[in-house]
Formats: sequence, structure tokens, C-alpha cells
Amino acid sequence: MKLFKKICAGLIGISLILAGCGKQGNTPASSAKTGSDVSEAKKSNIVVGFSQVGSESDWRRANTASYRKVFTEENGFYLVYEDAQQKQENQLKAVRNFILQGVDYIILDPIVETGWEEVLTEAKKAGIPVILVDRKAAVSEDLYECWIGSDFHKEGVSAGEWLEKYLESVGKASEDVNIVYLQGTPGSSAQIGRTQGFDEVLKKHSNWHVLARENADFTQAKGKEVMTEFLKKYQDIDVLISENDNMSFGAVEAIKAAGLTCGPRGDISIISFDGVLPALNTLLYGDFNAVFECNTQLGPVAADVIRKLNEGQKVEKTIYVEETYFDNSMDLAAIIQERKKLYN
Ligand code: AHR
Repeated sequence: MKLFKKICAGLIGISLILAGCGKQGNTPASSAKTGSDVSEAKKSNIVVGFSQVGSESDWRRANTASYRKVFTEENGFYLVYEDAQQKQENQLKAVRNFILQGVDYIILDPIVETGWEEVLTEAKKAGIPVILVDRKAAVSEDLYECWIGSDFHKEGVSAGEWLEKYLESVGKASEDVNIVYLQGTPGSSAQIGRTQGFDEVLKKHSNWHVLARENADFTQAKGKEVMTEFLKKYQDIDVLISENDNMSFGAVEAIKAAGLTCGPRGDISIISFDGVLPALNTLLYGDFNAVFECNTQLGPVAADVIRKLNEGQKVEKTIYVEETYFDNSMDLAAIIQERKKLYN
């Protein structure tokens, strides 16, 4: 009896230690499944492994929700979700796990464009079709079925052109304009496209001066930190270009902490990207000047692509999603009401 109790205590101890390890270790948030879970699920569902970048921004969280909403067992799917916490190494691990588990399809949102050739070749060898979403991977086209996402370059050009028109409308088209610029994760498609697009317009204006341009990794905390530094260094900032809403929220905090104001009636004009609900509210409140949308709703498009592939249909190699922009000339209250429905 004593021996039996000892064995039981030992087993409980071991399982508690194992449970503890899982919590303490830097394990990415996931719905990790074993190979046998997956083969069981495959009997009645399409099993999809999704490697998401992280949860660094409001955009990202709304984007993840759009997948979770559609990739349900009710809709004939079984989703194995892996949050890479903004680390490419976690994404590589996740994709390799999906291959081991034998999922039917892999959805990959690549944090940066480089470094995917090897793992995607492994997926191809295993016969698992890959769908790239949101950001691109610089690999040969035969390694993925299709890419779905935003035209980041166009977003950047549109932001530059908006600034051109705005400066004209306030009679400052030929004045010197001092710009600071917060960039997203270096090497990500969103950063590359928006930066290149904006720079195309910037080149046309010798009176636009970019005082500083720095990475703030698409997060609010970094946006605040980097903007605080910009404000210490430069007393005459006219415009902030910020490559996502969360960095812009952080920048607003920094601007206010420095005793300045922002938006159309403020000291510093802010042009942001994403168009998440809190950003539209910030625009309505008057702290932003314009926001260029990055469509979060990629989940339903990816589900549609997978259904088609599953039926043996062909799909387009590149699928751009619709996007718009928002500024203070619009009926923002009505737009916010409309957008709220999207997120419910
Ligand atoms: O890749 C899309 C970008 O990534 C969004 O602009 C940003 O908010 C996110 O983190």
C-alpha cells in the first residue's frame, strides 16, 4: 500500500512538473495537437495548420479573430493555431510541426520575407499545400499555392499622395516640412511596401525632410519609446508617418507627454496605417489626420481558397483584398458604426 501511494505521489509530481514546464517555458500560444489528434480530425474535417506572426497589434488580433471565426468544425475545418510571438524561429518550428502532424493545408503569415525556402521545400516534399497570407515570402512560386493580402506599396503611395493634397489644402505645399517616420518590423512586407511606396512620393518633394526614421516593431510600447526620443532630438516636427496604428497610439502618448498636440488642429500631423476601430475613434477625436486601411479580414478569403483547392479547383496566385482610407473629411461616426459590425 505504501509503495502504491509512493508511486502515485511520484506520478502526480512528474505531471505537475511537466505542466509547470509548459507554462514557464517560452512556449508560443498555440492549440498544439498531436499527430493522432490530427489524424482523428482528418476523418471528418479539413485540418489547417496556421502559423500566425504574433499578437503585437490590434490589427493582428482582429486578423486572428477572422481566421478563428471561419475555420471552425461547423464549417468543416479543424484549426491548429500557432502564435509565433514575433519570432521567425517559432514559425519555422510551427511549420515543421504541422508537417510532422500531417495537416492537410498550411497557412503561413511570414514575419519577414526571407528565410523560408528550406521549410517550404519540406512542406512541398510532404505534399502539403501552403497558402501565404498578409506578408510575403521571397521564395519560388512553386512552393506555395497562393498569397492573399494587402497592397502595402499602394498604401504607402496613397499616404504620400494624401500628404501632398493636405499640404496644398492648408497652403503649405511649398513650405519646408519636417517628417519623422516610425517603421514596422524591418524586412516584413508591410514595412518594405509602405516605406517604398511613401518614398516614391517623398522623392518628388525637395521641401519634405525626413529627420529620422526608426523601427518600432509595430508595437505601441516601442512607438511611444521611439517617438519620445524623436521629440527630445527635434523641436520642429511637422508630420509623423507611422506604419501601424499601435505605433501611432504610442506616439500620441509621447506627443501629449511632451506637452504638444497632434491631428488636424495640433502641432504634429499624424498619418497612420491599419484602420482598426480604436484608430477610427482616434481620428474622430482629432488626434490622427488620416489612416490607410490594411484589411484584417483575411480568414474568410483563405477558407474560400482552401475549399477550392480541396475540390481540385485552380486559384489565383495573388489575391489582393479591398482597402480604403479614412480622414476627417468623412462621416467617421457612421463609418465606425459600420465597422463595428465587422468585428462582431
Ligand atoms: O502585416 C500587417 C501589419 O502587421 C499591420 O499593419 C500591423 O499592425 C501588423 O502588426
